[in-house]
Amino acid sequence: MKPRDIARISLFTALLIALGFIPPLPLGFLPVPIVLQNLGVLLAAAILGPKRGSIAVGLFFLLVLVGLPVLSSRTAGIGVFYGASGGFLLGWLVTPAVYGGGRRLLGARAAGWQRGGLLWLVGVVLVDGLGALWLCVGLHLPLMSAVLASLVFVPGDTLKTVLAVLVTERMRQLRLAAQ
Ligand code: BTN
Repeated sequence: MKPRDIARISLFTALLIALGFIPPLPLGFLPVPIVLQNLGVLLAAAILGPKRGSIAVGLFFLLVLVGLPVLSSRTAGIGVFYGASGGFLLGWLVTPAVYGGGRRLLGARAAGWQRGGLLWLVGVVLVDGLGALWLCVGLHLPLMSAVLASLVFVPGDTLKTVLAVLVTERMRQLRLAAQ
């Protein structure tokens, strides 16, 4: 791995940490807040690509695991993965790899709207879907309530995806994003 790769990975791990300083918006009916931190995951996946993106998000989770309160909720340790946000966090971890796999399937000639649609499918449908699944299986919420609870995040997460796509497309033009 080149020093340039290490620098870019560190930059995105730092971005994830920085986004965690933006206070979360608590939802009274669900112990999972609205956060901005997943914008960093979307950007890491789309700009860094599957390998470097996974390392950046993985490093961030390593900090969570060793107890640093870098999540927006200021929680840390292995327990956060078993808590109400566990499914969403698993989604964050797999986003760069799954998005990267989808990009390979789409091929190099994919249009911007296809890349954006794929990022939405992975960063919103998959992540919020895994979040709902965990709320149901792990926290024993009825499936319908878990899905409805997770749907609350979709509009905001969709806006974050639009922002991530706009930034990524600009970075692609500048040859600073994975092609
Ligand atoms: C934490 O800080 O403990 C993690 C919170 C996870 C929040 C999830 S990420 C996907 C969905 N969109 C949001 O804005 N919030 C949830």
